[in-house]
Amino acid sequence: MSTWKTPQRIWLTGATSGIGEALARKLIAQGHHVVLSARNAEALDTLCQNQPNAHPLPLDISDRQAVLNAGTIIHERLGALDLALFNAGTCEYLDAQQFDMALVERVFAPNLFGTLYGIEAALPLLRAARQEGLPARLAATSSASAYVPLPRAEAYGASKAAVSYFLESLRLDLDQEGIDISLIHPGFVKTPLTEHNDFPMPMQVTAEQAADTIIEGLVKGRLDIHFPRRFTYWVKLLGILPPALRRQIGLRMTRAQRSRHEHLGIAKGIPAHCHCRQRH
Ligand SMILES: NC(=O)c1ccc[n+]([C@@H]2O[C@H](COP(=O)([O-])OP(=O)(O)OC[C@H]3O[C@@H](n4cnc5c(N)ncnc54)[C@H](OP(=O)(O)O)[C@@H]3O)[C@@H](O)[C@H]2O)c1
Repeated sequence: MSTWKTPQRIWLTGATSGIGEALARKLIAQGHHVVLSARNAEALDTLCQNQPNAHPLPLDISDRQAVLNAGTIIHERLGALDLALFNAGTCEYLDAQQFDMALVERVFAPNLFGTLYGIEAALPLLRAARQEGLPARLAATSSASAYVPLPRAEAYGASKAAVSYFLESLRLDLDQEGIDISLIHPGFVKTPLTEHNDFPMPMQVTAEQAADTIIEGLVKGRLDIHFPRRFTYWVKLLGILPPALRRQIGLRMTRAQRSRHEHLGIAKGIPAHCHCRQRH
């Protein structure tokens, strides 16, 4: 398994479940100094139990002040950060017939704004690492859905596309400070987030496989960590097709979903193929 040559000071969000939990376990086992965040304080305590190099720091990533306070606590504890990895996120799918702005805001709050609050809090700590003459890296978990608009993914896909755009843009402006940025674009990963999806999830990988690929990509300094590649290359290709062709393929997916729902006897208008984890 890949790792860095020296112990890293890492802040990881979304550490209590799925991809983040698998990352947390591996980073702790590799001996890095890891600050772990999510809302579930009990789960964080369990992860950090008897692990002197792991520190629980519970927070709601969509609470800007809480995230800024976390930055101060990390500064007191570690002095600087070599890596800030913003992985916390949620997913709900939209039913366009019942356009639900509350749902959109619930998805954007952690996925986009939470990630940006994290960056705001982490930047001074990454700069502190640069002042020590060390490399510093920001990373965020976007999604392969950012590559191409998919049916019902208006809120989720747009929140992730915004993360990808924001960080790619930021990468250009932080280059002069020597702070690099890695974007993570997973395909389907078997986690609590996807366990209720009622549509096909081709080439799904485990959270452990995802974590190994992410750590390897971060160690190698990859700008775009996307996996599984046999899936993400197809999605990228779909993303560069002419809009008329993309619409045709998207509509075919929409029809397939509708007929699956009709077959299952799901009433029209009820967002039943909601799928990803609902709000806590
Ligand atoms: N699974 C996939 O197929 C897939 C594909 C592409 C991208 N992704 C992205 O990968 C990331 C991890 O997803 P996952 O599949 O591992 O999901 P997951 O098992 O549901 O884990 C999500 C993590 O985010 C934390 N979280 C959610 N809302 C939060 C909030 N407001 N404040 C702080 N922490 C919060 C959760 O912890 P608490 O509940 O304790 O707060 C949990 O630790 C997400 O950003 C997701 O969008 C997943």
